[in-house]
Amino acid sequence: MVRVDDWAWSTTNWLRRAWACSSSGTAATADASASPPPTAMSTGKTERAAGAGAGAGAGAGASAGAGAGAGASAGAGVGAGAGEGEGGGILFEGVGFRYPGKEAWALRGIDLAIPTGESVALVGENGAGKTTLVKLLTRLYEPTEGRILLDGRDLRDIEVGELRRRFGVLFQDFNQYQLRVRENVGFGSIEHVDDGARVQRAVERGGAGEVVAAMTAGLETPLGRWFQDGTELSGGQWQKIALARAFMREESDILVLDEPTAALDAEAEHAVFERFRELSHGRTTIVISHRFPTVRMAKKIVVIDHGTIVEQGTHDELVALDGKYARMFALQAEGYR
Ligand SMILES: Nc1ncnc2c1ncn2[C@@H]1O[C@H](COP(=O)(O)OP(=O)(O)OP(=O)(O)O)[C@@H](O)[C@H]1O
Ligand SMILES: [Mg+2]
Repeated sequence: MVRVDDWAWSTTNWLRRAWACSSSGTAATADASASPPPTAMSTGKTERAAGAGAGAGAGAGASAGAGAGAGASAGAGVGAGAGEGEGGGILFEGVGFRYPGKEAWALRGIDLAIPTGESVALVGENGAGKTTLVKLLTRLYEPTEGRILLDGRDLRDIEVGELRRRFGVLFQDFNQYQLRVRENVGFGSIEHVDDGARVQRAVERGGAGEVVAAMTAGLETPLGRWFQDGTELSGGQWQKIALARAFMREESDILVLDEPTAALDAEAEHAVFERFRELSHGRTTIVISHRFPTVRMAKKIVVIDHGTIVEQGTHDELVALDGKYARMFALQAEGYR
């Protein structure tokens, strides 16, 4: 079974305690990156991750390596094979996934090796399957077929708390908690929500330092419209808070950012990625972005199209390949002219 509930467990308990202490009775909404509390009320933002989790885990049979099928694979030696037992990294083996109740495969025949410490960018059109892939990796969903190994161990055999500590994640559909800044950020690592210094560090790393400094009560400022004295933030400011949440997991060795800068202006985007790069030393990083200046920084670029991997390699290799990536890159470069 999918363990969304397990991910949610500590947050839910924490919220119960918070509610018991709070006269406002304000609740929070689910957030995949911070363990969704399924019983909490929603602010109305998307909750695809929490909602779709249940029942997704049927029949993880052995897939006979369906293979990526379409397209060329640039970049030598990046197929499956950095195998089980060798430790070191993430390995998708013949992974396929269908959303519950859906006929179509969101992902199929995914064979992908990401050695420890590597930086990877996932690119592809809307609906290609990028977010689904990282949600499988963080076990918000389980593969319908095939398996995913982390350091040689099947994700299903790794205790959820341990797995969660390994990942710092900012999801595309992150949520906005109608709670104080402290909780909005601290939920990234519940056990450290009272550690003011750590929360403040995460705020700075997320690029939210200025935003929070301008608030009268700093970390204790309530966010959102539910509070009479709550501070409403812009989309970009909420995103910085959500990014700070990902940076609460200081011990995590795998960072995942799903289009972290979609609501940021160009200057803020640059700042976020500079910081991200600083923090990613020695860590495995997976970035999903539609912006090529960001994408090309990755050591390995993986192109996903209609649920399969069609190309992978460095920026230069993929441009030379003159396939899908090269076309997408040329199209966007044209837009900048
Ligand atoms: N919760 C869900 N329930 C059912 N189908 C879903 C769900 N989430 C995504 N899908 C479908 O799965 C496919 C892959 O979606 P996914 O969100 O992974 O794409 P993506 O590459 O991240 O796209 P984008 O660039 O727009 O973020 C799409 O066909 C999408 O409609
Ligand atoms: Mg997506």
